[in-house]
Amino acid sequence: MRLKDKSAIITGGGNGIGREASLTFSREGANVVVADFDEDAAEAVVAEIKENGGSAIAVKVNVAEQASVTAMVEKAVTAFGTIDILVNNAGITADAMLHKLSPEDWQKVIDVNLTGVFYCTQAVIPKMVEQGKGKVITTSSVSGVYGNVGQTNYAATKAGVVGMTKSWAKELGGKGINVNAVAPGFIETGMVAKVPDKVIEKLKMTIPVNRLGKPTDIANAYLFLASDESDYVNGTVLHVDGGIMM
Ligand code: CAA
Ligand code: NAI
Repeated sequence: MRLKDKSAIITGGGNGIGREASLTFSREGANVVVADFDEDAAEAVVAEIKENGGSAIAVKVNVAEQASVTAMVEKAVTAFGTIDILVNNAGITADAMLHKLSPEDWQKVIDVNLTGVFYCTQAVIPKMVEQGKGKVITTSSVSGVYGNVGQTNYAATKAGVVGMTKSWAKELGGKGINVNAVAPGFIETGMVAKVPDKVIEKLKMTIPVNRLGKPTDIANAYLFLASDESDYVNGTVLHVDGGIMM
């Protein structure tokens, strides 16, 4: 029970990595706010948590809209009283080669993956400062660290997340708040299912552990950074990618 009685908001908690993180955090004793644009998926995760005896609420949120994020945080505090952990996990792709990337697809990825992380983190910080303790986890990507063909917009956001994470680690470390990023490699979720098979085949040859990652691989990294075990870890980027680039 590494998160016993802690309250965690997990954005994008309805599907993929966020779903696995919601279930993992609940098994470790957390009260979980499963916050997702996809309300049905969030409700399904909450139902599963409750069937297993855990405690959770589903909140429909669009992280790209500040008012929606403010409402999410209010619901979390009303339900559980504290916000001990924020996992900024919601994210989208809109892949295109540079010469084909539209301004609309540029902007929508920036709005969710970059501005959304800013809105969510800014919204929970007053509560964490009041508590004198908190854990903020952001989700970068191998694409943000090393770049990726067809991901100008996405890579920009995931590199930006690293910069924000390190800035916040410096601003907030003295207030008892740890801010760290996880940079996953290619993980088997709906996001990767959209990648053409020929690209996946090429990719697999570059992963030393010879497989794509699983959502549990990332949920376990989130868990470490959310738990007291990581109290002296601040401003780091934890690469969970099978050693894809070294
Ligand atoms: N690595 C290496 N080569 C790649 C590549 C990649 N990631 N993506 C595309 N290419 C290559 C293609 O194989 C192709 O090469 P050839 O001309 O030799 O066949 C060339 O680039 C052009 O690709 P397409 O013919 O597919 O061009 P398109 O305009 O139809 O589509 C695309 C371009 C939308 C970028 C498409 O190739 C694509 O979806 N690629 C995958 C991009 C990708 O890796 N996205 C990751 C999504 S998962 C994620 O984002 C999670 C995370 O954080 C890692
Ligand atoms: P996914 O597509 O399976 O799940 C993403 C979830 O985010 C969905 O439930 C979706 O409804 C939600 N979401 C999307 N836009 C939202 C918004 N505006 N507001 C609230 N919720 C929203 O994706 P996956 O793979 O689970 O990705 C989770 C995170 O991990 C993302 O930030 C992604 O960029 C990152 N990541 C994923 C990798 C992968 O290979 N799957 C690799 C590296 C990073």
